Amino acid sequence: MRILLGSILAVAFFASLVFGVLDFSGTVRARQAGFGRMLALHRSIRNQLGQSVPDSAAIARAAAAEAQLARDLPSWFPPGTGPDRVSTYARAEVWTRNSDFRARANELALALDDLGKAARSGNVGQLRAQQERVAEACQACHRSYLKFY
Ligand code: HEC
Repeated sequence: MRILLGSILAVAFFASLVFGVLDFSGTVRARQAGFGRMLALHRSIRNQLGQSVPDSAAIARAAAAEAQLARDLPSWFPPGTGPDRVSTYARAEVWTRNSDFRARANELALALDDLGKAARSGNVGQLRAQQERVAEACQACHRSYLKFY
């Protein structure tokens, strides 16, 4: 009886480990999809800026959606979803230097807010400068927190 109970507990224990890992990798897939949406918005703005007459309203909308993703970004990295547990491109420093990581996400959100303002003012020169700042904010975080960068 004790052996039976022991094996039931062991099975339950390993099942919880397996399902735990599956759940964590679901979190990683979801955040990678979030970055995919971010990249698509980033490209749509870049494409607009390549036009002779950029559509400022479309840029403002995309910047607002991208800023919201940037504000959500830190919540995509709950504890236990780092490279020691799951397959991810994120470095362990995301968690060990988390306040700096959050500051980088915030810098991206602020750059996108200013891009939205520039779009609403219709100043194309300023729009291009702000889009540069946004791209730099993506890269600055990737240099510190992305593997294989
Ligand atoms: C605060 C840090 C941070 C910022 C800012 C940031 N990223 Fe990332 N990005 C990451 C991390 C960490 C990963 C790795 C995610 C993983 O694999 O779990 C990543 C992954 C990605 C990926 C790969 C997703 C995949 O399918 O594997 C793309 C594309 C990407 N980022 C685009 C962007 C773009 C575009 C911006 C700016 C608009 C941006 N990122 C801003 C941290 C950041």
